Amino acid sequence: MSNTVLFGAQWGDEGKGKIIDVLTLDADWVVRYQGGNNAGHTVEIDNEKYVLHLTPSGILRDSCKCVIGNGLVVDIIGLNEELKELENRGISLKNRFFISDRAHIVFPYHKAIDGAKEKKRSKNDKIGTTKRGIGPAYSDKSDRIGLRMGDIFESDFYEKIEKIANTKNATLNFLDSDEINVSTMINEIKKAVEYLSPFVCDTLVLLNKAVKNNDKILFEGAQGIMLDIDYGTYPYVTSSNTGTSGVASGAGIPPQKIDRVVGIVKAYTTRVGEGPFPTELLDSTGEHIAKVGNEFGATTGRPRRCGWFDGIVANHAVNIGGINEWALMKIDVLDELDTIKVCTGYNLNGKEISYIPSNINKFSLCRPIFKELPGWKTSTKDCKKWEELPDNALNFINFIEEYTKTKVSIVSVGPKRSSTIIR
Ligand code: GDP
Ligand code: IMO
Ligand code: MG
Repeated sequence: MSNTVLFGAQWGDEGKGKIIDVLTLDADWVVRYQGGNNAGHTVEIDNEKYVLHLTPSGILRDSCKCVIGNGLVVDIIGLNEELKELENRGISLKNRFFISDRAHIVFPYHKAIDGAKEKKRSKNDKIGTTKRGIGPAYSDKSDRIGLRMGDIFESDFYEKIEKIANTKNATLNFLDSDEINVSTMINEIKKAVEYLSPFVCDTLVLLNKAVKNNDKILFEGAQGIMLDIDYGTYPYVTSSNTGTSGVASGAGIPPQKIDRVVGIVKAYTTRVGEGPFPTELLDSTGEHIAKVGNEFGATTGRPRRCGWFDGIVANHAVNIGGINEWALMKIDVLDELDTIKVCTGYNLNGKEISYIPSNINKFSLCRPIFKELPGWKTSTKDCKKWEELPDNALNFINFIEEYTKTKVSIVSVGPKRSSTIIR
């Protein structure tokens, strides 16, 4: 067993950073394959807390090499700041951090357009993006007008930026938004490029060699399956393939080289941004979960919406992503509840269904059908072994396993590395 994918099986923020960090004990490489700095992955080690946006979470384990794959969109100014902060905190990057020369660049105009478009949308049409320029950068990639990391070495790089920036300023004008100052932007980019250029290379060559060498590779998903551009709640999604299917295209690894898929879920559900969320709790239980779970976005600081665990969503992720096992996170957050609910079906116009309708209007009409389970009313925070988990927590885990026909192999009872139970 050597190559593992870990991807979010809900709406993101499941705890991917924490579990990637745990799994790096047994990995040679950690590879991000999609998204950008819309991600915010938290890792807590002893008393140190790190929030990583573009850097793979393996960077915190010296023995791991880290790759930003070709499928990402890279905000070079943001990445420059992120890496400098890591270096200031004593993390070494030399010979262990690589950026694909095929990855597309996010420029300040992408961020400005992202923000301007959100501002223009009516209340009901807002997506609630992170305003990190993700959609506009992936649009340019598909439109074949994007610039890639490898382009920083070309003599016409800045000339091209200037040309594109002028057309983007016309777009910003059209959106009634302030233009980007092109020369200020170019100066900032020059600084970032100078710092980042030693890390840019052909990561396909590196990773294919690693595969042939039987090195252990960990693929770190960002966002979650319900934010996937194809399988999520379109249009309230991000702009990339967040699950297993993103790995082949976003890292250049043949699918048959993936031998383990870990789906990661919270024991409940959260969502940041707009869009339907059938099991959402708009009551004191939702407030309790948000408070105990400290549910605020790691990237934007926005409060996360909270709701019950959704078995339909979990099965959607299992079916699409080929999940072999679950990492079940944050069960400690439910410690004080009398009862815990799990959604086992949707009522759509009087008919029970057990799949995610592709149409957003239909999905918004889905009402959850719940199975109620007894709470455990005991602190799980200090549990270190499977046998130490309270009976009703084991009962809850067992119910999820049976409903999704997938084993839970990791249970998390706190944010720290040490608060993890591996079965
Ligand atoms: P990611 O985007 O999937 O990496 O997740 P985030 O880092 O955005 O959000 C997960 C949050 O939950 C972070 O603040 C983690 O420190 C925290 N966390 C992770 N696992 C647990 C857990 O088992 N219990 C509690 N209480 N917090 C956790
Ligand atoms: P991690 O990797 C949670 C959400 C945004 C918005 C939608 C589109 O930390 O789990 P975008 O900026 O991508 O165009 O926004 O996706 N979103 C996330 N929600 N966790 C994330 O990343 C997210 N990245 C984007 O809130 O609803
Ligand atoms: Mg996050």
